[in-house]
Amino acid sequence: MSMQVGGLAIIHASPIPPKPTRIILAEFKKMGVKVRYLPIQAISLYLSPYGSYVSVGGKKLELRGALLRGIGFSLTLEQFFIRIGILKYLESEGVRFVNKVSSLLRTRNKLETLIALYRAGLRVPTTLATESLKRMYLGAKALGDVVLKPVMGSRGLGSVRTNDADVAFQIVKTLSSFNQPPLLQEYVEKPKRDIRAFVIGGEVVACMYRYSRGSWKTNVAQGGIGAPLNPPEEVKEMALKCLEVLELDYAGVDIAEGKEGFYVLEVNGSPDFEELSRVSGLNIAKLLAEYFLSVLKR
Ligand SMILES: Nc1ncnc2c1ncn2[C@@H]1O[C@H](COP(=O)(O)OP(=O)(O)O)[C@@H](O)[C@H]1O
Ligand SMILES: [Mg+2]
Repeated sequence: MSMQVGGLAIIHASPIPPKPTRIILAEFKKMGVKVRYLPIQAISLYLSPYGSYVSVGGKKLELRGALLRGIGFSLTLEQFFIRIGILKYLESEGVRFVNKVSSLLRTRNKLETLIALYRAGLRVPTTLATESLKRMYLGAKALGDVVLKPVMGSRGLGSVRTNDADVAFQIVKTLSSFNQPPLLQEYVEKPKRDIRAFVIGGEVVACMYRYSRGSWKTNVAQGGIGAPLNPPEEVKEMALKCLEVLELDYAGVDIAEGKEGFYVLEVNGSPDFEELSRVSGLNIAKLLAEYFLSVLKR
């Protein structure tokens, strides 16, 4: 089957496509749909009194839709502004992004995400955001078992757990001296696992437990291992609500089973899916590719 939708891309920040992106590209290829990979750094925007255009490698870029898989990590504010400026220009010109630019951005900002979820009445861990060392120290003392978490991070990288307020203090002090103040969060007492719910287009397509191995983090990137899960209705509803609140087309929702009930830890707007595909037996990349095309036809 061949389909002509024209001008499709997967956008990410690395010069060559990372593995999940390569898997999605392969699915498009199998479907006979042409989708190119675009590193975000390769896109240029030209604005003039006579008109404007976006180009790649000196050639004008005609896009209809883009699967936005990332904007990069460890960015300077300047890189961030240029990348977001160009993406938002494209979006305002009618390019359909999956996920939408501002929605993906919000998921990159763990604080903004938590605020939005909290406002919507979802249970999130007690969190302290401050640049005050003193407040952090007092917060760590009050909360006891805490996690210090990068406000922009993924794969469990860089999060630290301690129940010693002085250790927390030293970590926050050091990070702050590099202008990278973290978030302080209560450690949610949970089994040696959490739940990953994967939602596409308003439907929970797959769920799994992620069991941690030798760490309090359950990320697959930290050695976590998936196991099948037929999620309770409450988990499904929570996950769906997260996507609704954050206006996401698709996402992976991390849910912890705390003593008081389920907590949303994080919503990932460009989630990996290899482990979930393995555990669920579903071809998640294919589902994503199909969803992307269906959105463009609307
Ligand atoms: N407050 C918390 N309480 C208990 N476990 C947590 C907490 N925050 C994170 N974790 C564990 O660490 C993992 C990574 O944290 P998360 O917030 O999902 O960030 P990311 O996956 O982007 O690095 C979670 O999947 C969970 O297993
Ligand atoms: Mg996570």
